Amino acid sequence: MSSLNFTRPAEPMIAPSILSADFAHLADEVAAVAGADWLHVDVMDAHFVPNLTLGLPVVQSLLRATDIPLDCHLMIEDPGRWAPPYAEAGAHNVTFHAEATDDPVAVARDIRAAGAKAGLSVKPNTPIEPYLEILREFDTLLVMSVEPGFGGQSFIAHVLDKARTVRRLVDAGELRLLVEIDGGINADTIEQAAAAGVDCFVAGSAVYNTADPAATVRSLRAQAAAAQRR
Ligand code: DX5
Ligand code: ZN
Repeated sequence: MSSLNFTRPAEPMIAPSILSADFAHLADEVAAVAGADWLHVDVMDAHFVPNLTLGLPVVQSLLRATDIPLDCHLMIEDPGRWAPPYAEAGAHNVTFHAEATDDPVAVARDIRAAGAKAGLSVKPNTPIEPYLEILREFDTLLVMSVEPGFGGQSFIAHVLDKARTVRRLVDAGELRLLVEIDGGINADTIEQAAAAGVDCFVAGSAVYNTADPAATVRSLRAQAAAAQRR
């Protein structure tokens, strides 16, 4: 497949993470971020990360509750077994961790065959170089800018080198995928991530810990767009 006609989204994308939402009122919390590009859904299994969140039944309910595409971030062991059902259920993206499998290409192919976009995620201290060759099998790269497991942590800036590396390859036509970042994104950090070439910004606490989450989505997007143009 030619990579040369890959175009970046016209506007930066914002994906609110419902990890920071009130789980007892999820439908209302999803409605509160109307206008978001994707809804980021953190699936944790208490093995790959030291936290437990939600799984397929909640994703199935969310799919019925919103038209916003679901961006499922699987922080779980054995994604080869557990990831494809999220694609079959109708998730837009299914992202799993490079550190969780010996055969990321097989998992990506299964996700795509089941009808979703495939994403590869890397923890802050996982280098990207060993994965550059296989990124052609993926639709998104999710660069973690905190240790996965919890919302509300501080942004780790050194991960932006990975975003810059992949941005260059996409711009050169050697890869075609979206660069996404997750962890510690807020009004103080989004501009440096945008300047590094990120397309899609996950934000949990920065969106949900505000009085008007939809307005926060719009203002984060505008901030990222201004930083991209600089
Ligand atoms: C952390 C999750 C993130 C989390 C981000 O493991 O993957 O998606 O919700 O939360 P904030 O934006 O608060 O850092
Ligand atoms: Zn996440």
